[in-house]
Amino acid sequence: MSERKKVTLPMLFQKMERGEPITMLTCYDYPTAYFQEQAGIDMVLVGDSLGMTMLGYESTLPVTMDDMIRHTQAVRRGTPNAWLLGDMPYMSYQPSVESAIRNAGRFMAEAGCDAVKLEGGKEMADRVAGLVAAGIPAMGHLGLTPQSVSALGGFRLQGKGALQAKKIMDDAKALEDAGAFAVLLELVPDRVCRLITERADDCIIIGLGSGPYAHGQLLIYHDMFGLYPRFKPRMAKVYADAGQVIVDGLKEYAAEVTEKTFPQPENWFGMPDEEYEQLLDLLEDE
Ligand code: KIV
Repeated sequence: MSERKKVTLPMLFQKMERGEPITMLTCYDYPTAYFQEQAGIDMVLVGDSLGMTMLGYESTLPVTMDDMIRHTQAVRRGTPNAWLLGDMPYMSYQPSVESAIRNAGRFMAEAGCDAVKLEGGKEMADRVAGLVAAGIPAMGHLGLTPQSVSALGGFRLQGKGALQAKKIMDDAKALEDAGAFAVLLELVPDRVCRLITERADDCIIIGLGSGPYAHGQLLIYHDMFGLYPRFKPRMAKVYADAGQVIVDGLKEYAAEVTEKTFPQPENWFGMPDEEYEQLLDLLEDE
């Protein structure tokens, strides 16, 4: 494990003030978290997108708090030093401020999170204020918010028109005023992201498919490595097609087993001759 220091909120704000971009990725399991720790990723989000990427659901809506806690615990074990965020799943915070605090508290107490993320603008400002008052750092999420994808009309750019862009800007301010330490802007035009970033006083703006002007960038890990075959978002950069590498390896394995070229001697363990002879004698005596 690398020797880097634990990422703290002051460290993230210092990076923002120095104009150093903040790195953020999604992560859902221990081995990936271990790799992200080696790469020194600043912020790691256990997204409820795990419903799709890890559990094979059609959307994020069926994901439960228990699903999130189990995965977040594994991620924390793999990346002890990243600033770890638990993503509040559908209906874990929408009903009330009280539900938001109770469920966010589980992320902090049971999974070792540093913060939580929740979707929504002005209408969620009281949840953010409640979390902050309870000592739980909160990140907002605006633009394309997957838990409301049905109301938004699909996975599409948000804030293309001036009125909708103004609403996203007002929502970002409302979240900042409520105490959100950060806001994620997913799939909004680069100019809107730039205006929000320029106007943020005390709030880290992270972009996902929203251009280069935010204080930091987020990508979905499975999109980066071709690990989610059902859907390939245009904005995601594929750094390596690990999915194809895995499929090729699996096909090779199946062919080698079928052709009896696997296993080879280096893939098994032998037994000393005298032990084997003794074993045969034992069997004869039976
Ligand atoms: O669940 C998730 O991974 C997210 C991202 C889309 C930001 O919320």
